[in-house]
Amino acid sequence: MGPCVKKDSMKSSAPLPREAFRASGKNIYLDHNATTPVASFVREAVVSDLHAWGNAGSIHADGRHPKSLLRESRKQVAELIGAHPLELVFTSGGSEANNTALKGFRNGDRKTVLTSAVEHPSVIRTLKYLEEQGIYKIIQIPVNRDGFMDMDFYQRHLDERVALVSIMYANNETGNIFPIKEMVSMAHEVGAQFHCDGVQSLGKSLVDVKDLGVDYMSFSAHKFYALKGVGALYIKKGRHLDPLIHGGAQERKRRAGTENTLAIASFGRMAERKDEIEAYAKEVENLRDYMESRILKEIDGVSITGKEAPRIGASSSLVLEGVDGETLLMNLDVKGFSVSTGAACSSGNPEPSPVLLAMGLSRQEAQSSLRLSLGWGTSQEDIDLFVTTLKEVVMHVRKIARGEI
Ligand SMILES: Cc1ncc(COP(=O)(O)O)c(C=O)c1O
Repeated sequence: MGPCVKKDSMKSSAPLPREAFRASGKNIYLDHNATTPVASFVREAVVSDLHAWGNAGSIHADGRHPKSLLRESRKQVAELIGAHPLELVFTSGGSEANNTALKGFRNGDRKTVLTSAVEHPSVIRTLKYLEEQGIYKIIQIPVNRDGFMDMDFYQRHLDERVALVSIMYANNETGNIFPIKEMVSMAHEVGAQFHCDGVQSLGKSLVDVKDLGVDYMSFSAHKFYALKGVGALYIKKGRHLDPLIHGGAQERKRRAGTENTLAIASFGRMAERKDEIEAYAKEVENLRDYMESRILKEIDGVSITGKEAPRIGASSSLVLEGVDGETLLMNLDVKGFSVSTGAACSSGNPEPSPVLLAMGLSRQEAQSSLRLSLGWGTSQEDIDLFVTTLKEVVMHVRKIARGEI
């Protein structure tokens, strides 16, 4: 292939239909915060991109096609988030992007990092590690059970000792959205830098890094109908970044390793789907609201965590009194529904969700929780079937718990 090979652009003015983003398994999939199905047009494109098997770093003919895929994808992802292409480093996913930012930023000899109590483990555990190494002191800002960040606490702890503030755009369990723009300008007033874990933002709302004002922001392609194994870190021009992975000169010496060209190209293709983001965000939110209102009306003893604060439209975190979340999940799976009880990355772990505990739920409440996350492929029929089944399963499980059957 020659140097000028361009990806076939799938960009169109009309949003692609729901079927293009629908999970292909036998279950109805309500776990989009864990991962999303690969969009059908992305699957097809991946097959044709296999021809670009060369190393993007090679200067001979076989390196040119992967190199042009890489260049174009960087432009597409950058354009989606309002960045310059050179402000992006492709990583293996959101966890690596978070690790890279937190371990690679520098802000003089400041020693404090402020973060929230509900961050993803790839932020919290990385920061705990840095604290154990004696590098930073970590302060966690509380989030209450209504989903609001304690802004007074934030204000009180922001001073010229703070090197970095790291707050997620949207929580992966409750969907709560935090006031990033306001928090960024408060951080900048005292000279602190700002990292935002934006992994749960793509595909759910349009984000613009310049408008938010962040210094670093992490993204992941597999939460956005593209392939697993790729993510991106936005680094504002002029900000420092030590590489996490040392080696070759890829990514302008900011992330060594031969690029995962196919996955990166899938990310680029999805980044062109702005029309879908706009069209589906509201539709998914309406469907989520419809689902919640049916659940609250038809099933006793249900509460919604984080409902009072702004939320991304796709997520719903329920507490169902008198029901064990794991039992519920397994029963729903048997009946053909994929849901989650907490952070997907830690499912299989019987401990209640640290996010829900941090928000002030009791262990028992957290153990009775169910996380539902809708996607662009979810239909009203799916939701109707789900609510009807949930109602039956909850009644059944509660009867067993009461010893009635
Ligand atoms: C908020 C958030 N941050 C980071 C990650 C990690 O992303 P990845 O799976 O791409 O490593 C996840 C994954 O669930 C997430 O939800």
